[in-house]
Amino acid sequence: MITHRRPPQEALVTVLDTRTPARSTPAHSTLDRVTARTARVRSYLMCAPTHFDVTYAINAWMQPGIHVDRDRAVAQWQALVETYRALGHSVELLEPAAGLPDMVFAANGALVVDGRAYGARFRHVERQAEAVLHAGLLREQGIEVVEPAHTTEGEGDFLVLASMILAGTGFRTSLHAHVEAAAALDRPVVSLELVDPRFYHLDTALAVLDDGNGEAPADIAYLPSAFSPHSRRTLRQLFPDAIECSEADALVLGLNAVSDGHHVVLPVQARDLAVRLAERGYTPVPVDVSELLKAGGSVKCCTQEHHA
Ligand code: ARG
Repeated sequence: MITHRRPPQEALVTVLDTRTPARSTPAHSTLDRVTARTARVRSYLMCAPTHFDVTYAINAWMQPGIHVDRDRAVAQWQALVETYRALGHSVELLEPAAGLPDMVFAANGALVVDGRAYGARFRHVERQAEAVLHAGLLREQGIEVVEPAHTTEGEGDFLVLASMILAGTGFRTSLHAHVEAAAALDRPVVSLELVDPRFYHLDTALAVLDDGNGEAPADIAYLPSAFSPHSRRTLRQLFPDAIECSEADALVLGLNAVSDGHHVVLPVQARDLAVRLAERGYTPVPVDVSELLKAGGSVKCCTQEHHA
């Protein structure tokens, strides 16, 4: 049985889209509610890029041996942490470990919903030790961690909405893990097939703008060509009003964004996407994490949300 959970009443800001034509809006129309953007306080887990490097290639973005400016990576990551805190969100930190250069991509370490975690089981041996460190911290925090039997990369391939979890497969997370996650977290899971190796995790091809936990309906942006035809159909049916992102914006990992329902923190390079978000009543918050792009990650990859 799936229960629709109401968010805590700790909204930061409510913005009514002033473009809504008041004259054609009946008194009790839901139209202006639909365009209301309300931020909800979030809890994030992040991990500093202290040991960030590109020493192996497990996605199409990584070129081993490319020069990595670690100080720049740390400064960019720190600015992202400060951005979240300035927006009123909480950021907890996971201790970085030497020899795990991708650990900054904390989103991949687990999927945490309603005080329960479905752990990670990384596809590539280079990242497998990260799962243990994530599970350890979560357990210390009193969160029950379900150990996966199948390959799964946390929020890289699972994006949480109020009424369902969107799940990617094709490059990393196994379809079996979708079934396992649904059982572990007692939420419906909708499987989506990724087909373009440049967009190897769901969070590189699809961004949740509004999770549907508040007044407004769930809202997403995605790159249609990153999905198989049947998954495109699924997305069209579930989200007929979604933003279809351009390939140019997706190629700067513009969809690797983090929204609190009102503020959308996204890579500064995704300019057109930022304009389209603003047109919908969101406030884009551009940040530069370009050093991390060398490993194929951006804003969302650095951010594991603990969903209420
Ligand atoms: N180099 C990392 C990998 O290939 C990047 C992970 C990015 N994380 C994400 N959530 N998409 O696994």
